[in-house]
Amino acid sequence: MAALENPVPPVAALFPSHADRVRWDDYLTRELLCANARVAGGSVVPTIDMTALRSQLALIDFQAPRGLEELLPWTIAQLEHGVVHMTNPRYFGLFNPAPSFPALCGDRLTGAFNPQLATATTSPAAVEIEAHVIRAVARQAGLPPEATGHFTSGGSEANYTAVLCALTQANDRFATEGARAFSGPPVFYISRESHLAWVKIGHQAGIGRSAVRQVPTDGRGRMDADALATMIAEDKTRGCVPVLIVATAGTTNAGMIDPIGRCAELARAHGLWFHVDAAWGGAVLASDRLRGVLAGIERASSITIDAHKWFATTMGCGMFLTRDPAILSQTFQVTTGFMPSNTATVDPYVTTAQWSRRFLGVRLFLALAAAGWSGYAQHVERSVALISQLRALLAERGWRIANASSLAVLCVEPPVGAADPRTVAGRVLASGRAWVAVATYEGRDVIRICLTHGEATMDDIHELIDALNAAC
Ligand SMILES: Cc1ncc(COP(=O)(O)O)c(C=O)c1O
Repeated sequence: MAALENPVPPVAALFPSHADRVRWDDYLTRELLCANARVAGGSVVPTIDMTALRSQLALIDFQAPRGLEELLPWTIAQLEHGVVHMTNPRYFGLFNPAPSFPALCGDRLTGAFNPQLATATTSPAAVEIEAHVIRAVARQAGLPPEATGHFTSGGSEANYTAVLCALTQANDRFATEGARAFSGPPVFYISRESHLAWVKIGHQAGIGRSAVRQVPTDGRGRMDADALATMIAEDKTRGCVPVLIVATAGTTNAGMIDPIGRCAELARAHGLWFHVDAAWGGAVLASDRLRGVLAGIERASSITIDAHKWFATTMGCGMFLTRDPAILSQTFQVTTGFMPSNTATVDPYVTTAQWSRRFLGVRLFLALAAAGWSGYAQHVERSVALISQLRALLAERGWRIANASSLAVLCVEPPVGAADPRTVAGRVLASGRAWVAVATYEGRDVIRICLTHGEATMDDIHELIDALNAAC
């Protein structure tokens, strides 16, 4: 029989030869290192001409193929000039860190092998590595040995998972009947200073935005536990069904920590799920010196920690941890004929909101294994030390300190007689010398300075102080 011939060769632009791949990989490695070095010494904010970008994009109409020798340098240049640079040590931003080198290696490995983590059957090693990291982080948080969890796309997915678990625990008919299973509207509690993705989550979970009760704070950015107790009692009297209390451990605006112990007690007293949102603050668990600020986290039903915040992985690396594997399985259980396995508590597609899954956790695995907990302790402690120095230097210069956080975020108001926070922050950004945010803390505008860049130094702090003073 004549040998069958391939109908057409593979598309070389999509699947180049081995030699070409080596060439492009080398090019990217070298070029990205140079671009990163330029970024570290250049403008933190975008300098791109968007009109020029749009007209260049219009020419890329996906009709005639273009070579990588044109596309790669062009795309690198757009990123070099067209984004706010988290890798610049004067980005004092929203917890988006400069990624650690092991995390970057993890991204490269994931892309190269592109494993499918929907099931342990398809990716046994990868699923096991992720589970190993999750168990280690859960242990570090003080959860019991049976604790489980998974990597998520970020803190919002992890928090969404907590709401689904809470609803599932509160009523075992929720899985089939949804909110209709409850005798009254299900509600849950967050503080007014918490991350307001919770409001979207109420919508997403089908219980509605009004189900998200925003508890007043104590004037220092922390949930008022007495107000929480009153709201729960009032909701019950009204026929609502409380299902969950969320304590934020490191508020987004000011790094404040809700009274975790009081929230845990109220949750236990009312039989509610208790979630701690430690999306960025959770990294201090690495430090024996700092972790005490999260005391009580070990009592949580579940915890959110984002590795893509203070653990310095690349974006898209959250974690959901829970002491209750059975509820997690009940929440995401499904059976299909086409998946190669269906093992509750093992196969990620039956224990998480995602189905097809990227190998998210390898970045934290490599970074944690390379640095050890002690390396991460040093990483978070140096951030806190730098922020303390900044706090003292700004106070000396007449800046008013608005928050009293033990984490690496500082909220300040300009000296009396200077421009308002919004104007000052706008001028700092326009200078390109540093990036700071405006936040609302306890009802007033403040300049929010967060330090999660692992290589920031006192020189960067002094540059920021100069930029802030010049903007007053
Ligand atoms: C306390 C807190 N929770 C949740 C989130 C949302 O996390 P993500 O942006 O990873 O979805 C953030 C983001 O800053 C946060 O600070």
